[in-house]
Amino acid sequence: MDVQFQNNALSVNYHNKSYQLHPVWLRERLPGEEYFDVDTHQRLYEPSSIDLNLEIKAATLSDHLLNIEFNDGVKGSYNMDDLLIEMDDEKNKRGPLPKRVLWNSSLGQFPEAQFEEGMSEKKSMYDLLINFYKYGFVIIKNVPTEDKYLLKFVNSIGPVKNTNFGEYFDVMSKPNPNDLAYKPIALPPHTDNPYRKPTAPGIQFLHCLQNEVSGGFSTLVDGFAVAEHIKKHDPEAFQSLTSTNLRYQFQDKDIILENWGELIELDNDGDYKQVRYSTRVDYVPPLDTEKLNTFYRSRKLLSELYSASDFELKFKLQPGDIMMFDNHRLLHGRTAYDSNEGMRHLQGCYLEFDATDGKLRHLARKFK
Ligand SMILES: [Fe+2]
Repeated sequence: MDVQFQNNALSVNYHNKSYQLHPVWLRERLPGEEYFDVDTHQRLYEPSSIDLNLEIKAATLSDHLLNIEFNDGVKGSYNMDDLLIEMDDEKNKRGPLPKRVLWNSSLGQFPEAQFEEGMSEKKSMYDLLINFYKYGFVIIKNVPTEDKYLLKFVNSIGPVKNTNFGEYFDVMSKPNPNDLAYKPIALPPHTDNPYRKPTAPGIQFLHCLQNEVSGGFSTLVDGFAVAEHIKKHDPEAFQSLTSTNLRYQFQDKDIILENWGELIELDNDGDYKQVRYSTRVDYVPPLDTEKLNTFYRSRKLLSELYSASDFELKFKLQPGDIMMFDNHRLLHGRTAYDSNEGMRHLQGCYLEFDATDGKLRHLARKFK
């Protein structure tokens, strides 16, 4: 690392990149009890009040401390490591979140965690969340199979997301169901609730309480791995799937929920943001014939890949297992079962990413 100060400009060279540090940018980060509240870490003044003619008078680097003197007489010391994190766009955005590991059916060892009483502040929760962010899912073993224990567990990470379906749902066959999930038929790979606003629930938990039937296997597909495959092998399909905006709708007697989005959504950097796939509730607009021809061909390819054994994990949840998975990245489903063979009972609920992201950042302070 090299810090140069010339003509009121501070430049830092680090890892073959060069950064310019603006005097006001540095000033609004100036550490000290008079500037930042000790408890909340919130700024105690309005940063737009900083004099825009502010200049750096002197700058020195010793160990990892950057010492600055401004032209109004104020001096300060900055932890260079903190500034470097802010300068590294990638690190700054992801924080302690690990890089994704895309997978297909050849994934050997499933990411697993052992349930522990009161684990939400322990290293075991940190490891669980790291695995979750890498693989998009984790199986938590040996959770007590009590009714609604799931809510207690999930609330220890962050507040369970409440919806018009309630705080949780039971997945078991039941008479006169309002959703195909409640019949013992196979459920093809899908993501849940793309019709919700502002977006589909981020994380789903399914807690297996009973599983006495010979069928009823759970399936998972890494939607981002499938997207990556299409990007490499069929750029035209990738273009269509990432740019065609679809409408999703749910309705029952009490409510109509509706939202829009691409089947594969990218963020501003072209990175994967979210997949949506719920083919019983999606509607493509009446685009030009040529565009629709391409879209329908692309959707067919997507559907085939989502159902292909190359990409699918198929496994049986045991009583006491919680499957936690990213509903913006993974597709889930299950094989059919015969409800006359015995009970199959899962309880499910949702959680949003601010809970897991916030919990992981918090635990990283202790365990990273
Ligand atoms: Fe589902």
